[in-house]
Amino acid sequence: MKVEITINGIRTSHEVEPRTLLVHYIREVEGLTGTHVGCDTSNCGACTVHLDGEAVKSCTVLAAQADGSEVTTIEGLADGDEWHPVQQGFHECHGLQCGYCTPGMVMAAAALLEENADPTELEIRTNLEGNLCRCTGYQMIVDSVRWAADRSSQ
Ligand code: FES
Ligand code: FES
Repeated sequence: MKVEITINGIRTSHEVEPRTLLVHYIREVEGLTGTHVGCDTSNCGACTVHLDGEAVKSCTVLAAQADGSEVTTIEGLADGDEWHPVQQGFHECHGLQCGYCTPGMVMAAAALLEENADPTELEIRTNLEGNLCRCTGYQMIVDSVRWAADRSSQ
């Protein structure tokens, strides 16, 4: 079947199997490997992207379900040379170690700040509970998101 998905502002169109997952369309068909796969399905959040503005785990969505939609991946989050505040926050607050979870964490956090520009630590932790990190212990990630919220409010 043929699907058309706009990814990071660029219209894409390909023939895919009906069972093709959105994450595989992004990574294997479009070659955007910034979106990671960290589990069999739906546990880790490494594959989080924005689908029509909402954070979704792209391993839980079929490419066919995204037909006609707009997707943003980590590659499309920055504004040209200017990092998104959440990306800057992860840099400033050392919110990553191995980096495997980072694209998904950043995309989930960016969606949170779209909905709630001034989240509490508890709200950040609750919102990111579907995103697993095996390295950081999470505090630096929370600090990174708070840094981004503070920067965005200036
Ligand atoms: S790869 Fe999608 S949740 Fe783990
Ligand atoms: S930085 Fe390694 S899994 Fe999060």
